[in-house]
Amino acid sequence: MCGIVGAVAQRDVSPVLLEGLKRLEYRGYDSAGLAVIDDNETIQRIRILGKVNHLYEKHESSPLTGGTGIAHTRWATHGKPSVHNAHPHICRNQVALVHNGIIENHSALREQQITAGFEFESETDTEVVVNAVYQALETETDLLQAVIEATRQLEGAYALGVINNSEPHRLVAARKGSPLVIGIGIGEYFIASDVFALLPVTQQFIFLEDGDIADIRRDSLVIYDKNLQLVDRPVNISELNADVADKSGYRHYMLKEIFSQPNAIAESLENRIQDNRIVVSEFGQDAEKVFKKTNTVKISACGTSYHAGLIAACWMEEIANVPCHVEIASEYRYRKSVVSDNTLFVSISQSGETADTLAALQKAKQSDYLSTLAICNVAESSLTRESELVFLTHAGPEIGVASTKAFTTQLVSLFMLVIAIARYKGLSNDQEAEFVKQLESLPGRVNQILQYKDKIETMAKDFADKHHALFLGRGSFLPVAMEGALKLKEISYIHAEAYAAGELKHGPLALVDDDMPVVAVAPNNNLLEKLKSNLEEVHARGGELYIFADKSSEVEVSENIHVLKINGFYDFMAPILYTVPLQLLAYYVAVIKGADIDQPRNLAKSVTVE
Ligand code: F6R
Repeated sequence: MCGIVGAVAQRDVSPVLLEGLKRLEYRGYDSAGLAVIDDNETIQRIRILGKVNHLYEKHESSPLTGGTGIAHTRWATHGKPSVHNAHPHICRNQVALVHNGIIENHSALREQQITAGFEFESETDTEVVVNAVYQALETETDLLQAVIEATRQLEGAYALGVINNSEPHRLVAARKGSPLVIGIGIGEYFIASDVFALLPVTQQFIFLEDGDIADIRRDSLVIYDKNLQLVDRPVNISELNADVADKSGYRHYMLKEIFSQPNAIAESLENRIQDNRIVVSEFGQDAEKVFKKTNTVKISACGTSYHAGLIAACWMEEIANVPCHVEIASEYRYRKSVVSDNTLFVSISQSGETADTLAALQKAKQSDYLSTLAICNVAESSLTRESELVFLTHAGPEIGVASTKAFTTQLVSLFMLVIAIARYKGLSNDQEAEFVKQLESLPGRVNQILQYKDKIETMAKDFADKHHALFLGRGSFLPVAMEGALKLKEISYIHAEAYAAGELKHGPLALVDDDMPVVAVAPNNNLLEKLKSNLEEVHARGGELYIFADKSSEVEVSENIHVLKINGFYDFMAPILYTVPLQLLAYYVAVIKGADIDQPRNLAKSVTVE
């Protein structure tokens, strides 16, 4: 999703802005740009279609220098990816602006502005905002007042950075619905969409809250809340290092993140287990009170996080005996729904900034839920701020657009949630200790599975020339299959769908031929024999099978049947374990196809617009 960086300093800010954009690349984008106010108080701008490296090259051939500037990576929503749609947008050489979010009433504002004599250079929804600021400057005293006036006209979501050449040492930032942080330097301030962008220049951050407007100069920072009251927002010291975003020798962030899962899982467990029991207070001060009352659980999330929710629902009903419903946040937010008594609302999100997940939470807060809990990877995110209970997944920053370690640590966290609730529904101490033992065995077991990487890489070669793939699973392994299909399609661009294996003969079997690889997840559980029958149906129709099975599953290699035997045994951790080979399969297929693995086309890491 779009990324913003801005700075007001004594020094030339262009290098800081360029480095910031580079560090925001992981969010996904299609074009980029930079504008600074130079010594002659003129706004200078460069923009490109494509990668930030290209912006560096352009900057090298015609450098811009200035102490105040804004920069942007754009992920197209309104208007195709192109140089003229790239930000910053400038109005009449006086005001420049970068924007993240969507202005919903841009068509109406555009009409009004055309009538008022403005000419448009882009198809974006953003250009109306820069024009509105320019227009307001004709009557308002200064940039801050003009931005306040302009944002009054806006419907939708925005994070904004605005500069004005007649106030060359000032930057105004505003946020509503899209994240924005302020970095504090010595005699200089910065803004960005997230802290990674600014780690090379500061460790001190202020997280703007919804509706905040910040008036930023080299030596002063003043923040107003949504009612335009002066506010003091706390300064947070980040513990992240600037090099947190390096690949540590791996070819891609995704591979690094897949291989860091044993460590990420261990981090997620740390301090959460004491005397073989889950530390319930890790979910929040009121967690015990809430969990005791919880009769039903409602989970809402998007994408990979939604798949984690589906697996958690199987655990919740089987272990805690508590009904659990899972819903895609973009559906739930617009649906009339019924809340039964004492229902806990759980949101799952890596970023904590996903627009639909946040909107679903807002809806839940206006409904009759017992409480709201966020399972989230980013401590200072909108989701954690807005939820009553919070459990952090501690996966560490995830840079690859395709989520891997965030997913497995979400599952670990959700399993702890299930145990914590189950404790108040009759789970014995011995059973809890047994589940804790399973959790603690995970880092080592995931590590063992990672050792199959060469075998999976060989298997991946068969997929490189395929256009479609089918993934099959049953029970809690259906969401594992769904996650495997999502990984494959998003990074290798092979069309992949997941089906409940039992549904095969109700339609999808018609698709099976020798050109359609069928991937199946076959742990040795109570559904294995049923699954084997489903796989026979595929085999009988000439389908090529790729089966991930337990050593004890008695699934054997034969013509058109490729089996990767996982050295395991079946327990509740199995969905986590079986996810890992599917991540590796997607990764190696994408490598063979030469795809842009960390930044797949059209996708963004943090989906902050609807
Ligand atoms: C897929 C992927 C997405 C995210 C989804 C939700 O690999 O990463 O499907 O899972 O956009 O994002 P979060 O978890 O940040 O709310």
